Amino acid sequence: MKVQSKLPHVGTTIFTEINRVAQKHQAINLAQGFPGYEPHPELIEHLKKAIHTSRHQYAPMPGIFSLRESLGKKMKKAYNQNYHTENEITITAGATQAIFTAIAAFIKKDDEVIVFKPAYDCYEPAIELQGAKAITIEMKAPKYKIDWEEVKSKINSKTRMIIINTPHNPTGTILEKNDMLSLEKLVENTNIIILSDEVYEHIIFDKQQHQSAALYPKIAERAILVYSFGKTFHITGWKLGYAAAPKYLMKEFQKVHQFNVFSVNHFAQVAIQKHLQNPKHYLDLANFFQEKRDFFLELIKNSKFDFIPAQGTYFQNLSYQNISDKKDTDFAIQLIQEKKLAAIPVSVFQKNQKDEKMLRFCFAKEKDILKKAAEILNSF
Ligand SMILES: Cc1ncc(COP(=O)(O)O)c(C=O)c1O
Repeated sequence: MKVQSKLPHVGTTIFTEINRVAQKHQAINLAQGFPGYEPHPELIEHLKKAIHTSRHQYAPMPGIFSLRESLGKKMKKAYNQNYHTENEITITAGATQAIFTAIAAFIKKDDEVIVFKPAYDCYEPAIELQGAKAITIEMKAPKYKIDWEEVKSKINSKTRMIIINTPHNPTGTILEKNDMLSLEKLVENTNIIILSDEVYEHIIFDKQQHQSAALYPKIAERAILVYSFGKTFHITGWKLGYAAAPKYLMKEFQKVHQFNVFSVNHFAQVAIQKHLQNPKHYLDLANFFQEKRDFFLELIKNSKFDFIPAQGTYFQNLSYQNISDKKDTDFAIQLIQEKKLAAIPVSVFQKNQKDEKMLRFCFAKEKDILKKAAEILNSF
């Protein structure tokens, strides 16, 4: 039987390849974007207790009420925006499912969706699967600012959605108030939905304020916001997150969600709800990761790698332009094979694999690992 691929350009990603080579060479792995340590012991205790509370059957379709209620309160406090427990919050299988569901719910064949590149890799396949088109707009190294005039020139009657991501993976940059005001102006009186990927909302440095779409009422009224407990509580393997949006958008989102997954892990929702009651668990996150960023960067400040300190996320990009002319994919493989250190070449997130001689390192690791990585980087 012959099958016609719906995603003919999608193959095995460089992530898989980098991890395979990293394992083979027993390299220090700063490629993978997840924490190299255990989650908070209190969360594990909540999980153990939750397992004994008869939560082994389906959770309600949008998620358990108490968790949605806690999230609504948290968002009101942080962003002064109301998301009603009843019909404006849905617990999802990670941010990835929330993103896919949002795109599937609103994007039709031949619609256009604006995506800023480099970009996290799950947006474009989801758009393509709807028979729609991703219109990519490049953000240029090293600052990766969005050119809002260019965005304006790309908007037309087919533009149905704009996807933003702040703090941003893979560049570690953030959107600022001016960016949000430009966006607000551009979408006024249009039918454009904003999909705002805010999975790193709490991982933002140097006392900057996270510019959530929820802070801007004229954006929030047309926005679906997505979050990840994986990032906030160091539990990427639990695959839990949520989406928040005004009722008229959430209604359509849930129409897809209920047939996409129906509902997600019940007892883990109970544990997370309990853990959320102590705001320290997420409010301390910025300091926790800033300390790691500063520790890592202090160690490599005299190396040949150039960098601008990440403003958010747990990724630091390093430019090796003073060291080699090699393509970033080749340089990344060489770094593993010869020096036993793994990172992700940023070209995999770029349009046409544009090579800016940049590698992405995940610093959500223990200090001894970061120290060993720094020694290797200093050896160039
Ligand atoms: C920008 C961004 N969005 C979404 C996700 C997916 O989050 P989750 O693991 O909750 O599906 C990630 C994970 O790395 C990410 O970096």
